[in-house]
Amino acid sequence: MKPKILLTGATGFIGKRLLYKLDQSGYRVRCLVRSSEKLALALPVENEPEIVYGDILKPETLDGALEGIETAYYLVHSMGGRSPRKFLEFETRDRKAAQNFITAADNAGIKRIIYLGGLGDVGDKLSHHLASRQEVGRILQSGRCKTTILRAAVIIGAGGAGFEIIRYLVERLPVLLCPKWVYTMNQPIAVENVMDYLQGCMENPDTAGMSLDIGGPQILGYADLMRIYAKTRGLKRLIIGVPFFSTRLSSYWVNLITPLPAGIVFALAEGLRNEAVCRENHIREMVPANLLPMDQAICNALAEEQSGPGAISRQSCFLSESLKNA
Ligand SMILES: NC(=O)c1ccc[n+]([C@@H]2O[C@H](COP(=O)([O-])OP(=O)(O)OC[C@H]3O[C@@H](n4cnc5c(N)ncnc54)[C@H](OP(=O)(O)O)[C@@H]3O)[C@@H](O)[C@H]2O)c1
Repeated sequence: MKPKILLTGATGFIGKRLLYKLDQSGYRVRCLVRSSEKLALALPVENEPEIVYGDILKPETLDGALEGIETAYYLVHSMGGRSPRKFLEFETRDRKAAQNFITAADNAGIKRIIYLGGLGDVGDKLSHHLASRQEVGRILQSGRCKTTILRAAVIIGAGGAGFEIIRYLVERLPVLLCPKWVYTMNQPIAVENVMDYLQGCMENPDTAGMSLDIGGPQILGYADLMRIYAKTRGLKRLIIGVPFFSTRLSSYWVNLITPLPAGIVFALAEGLRNEAVCRENHIREMVPANLLPMDQAICNALAEEQSGPGAISRQSCFLSESLKNA
């Protein structure tokens, strides 16, 4: 029998897909959630997962939840809230959460953690969000267990925050007068390939303790990604970069057009100035995957809303439950 895996963030964009993926591969999964109601909205699985209550910001809820586990996925962040002024509060929460988790993991004797963080170079004047994702990785690597860090740019899939921002902008505006970040280089990746890598890392012990960049087959600007989205949807869109449009102003602009919580929009928009391109590709030898081009990834994201895990976001017009409630 395959070992039981602990899945944090199981109600989120990445976590709920990984739950299906692991289930289909015969793994038994224990989901650590703050609300089991959010999980109940998901599609049926082969093997009912074990659901335990745990709030990573409340260490007293973690000890029992991690018992008997060798490998845990850390797929949690706490960006959110409705106030642009308070958007930086996530940094403190995410630091605390990672510290609580690694302490509980060490106490429970967990051997491996697999964490999905963000791409971005430290010397690059990183946004608060990307710097915080890297800090979380360092904290998770400071324990006794071996932590694998996967670093990704925007992930293309229904309900993903970065993808939904692109989708709302292109769907709603025939002419997009964009800040200069539309030319920042990025290496987006299809959510299906992120799943391949998350599972593949667990199955390849050589990845334990490593930090690995993951990206799709194309390096492009956000303007290119928007054009691919528009073409896939058969929409005619004019995208023009305006140099004097500041990051701050553009955050308010994106916040106005998209219904995502301001706390997420402001954190992500600030990072759009940072290049997010893989600096190494060791993952491609360690975990082979058939990398999807972006037009295919976008088609899949749109189709998945009808029949895959993305179906959960249908009623709410694009938005996943997790984002809606953030
Ligand atoms: N989406 C992307 O494009 C993208 C790109 C690169 C990297 N990543 C990384 O992927 C990981 C997962 O992101 P995501 O897009 O799946 O985010 P998401 O959809 O917003 O999900 C976040 C998850 O974290 C959980 N969570 C937050 N605070 C918690 C706490 N105190 N205790 C327990 N659970 C808590 C949420 O639970 P509730 O449902 O209870 O709120 C939710 O399940 C993150 O590390 C992110 O940086 C994402």
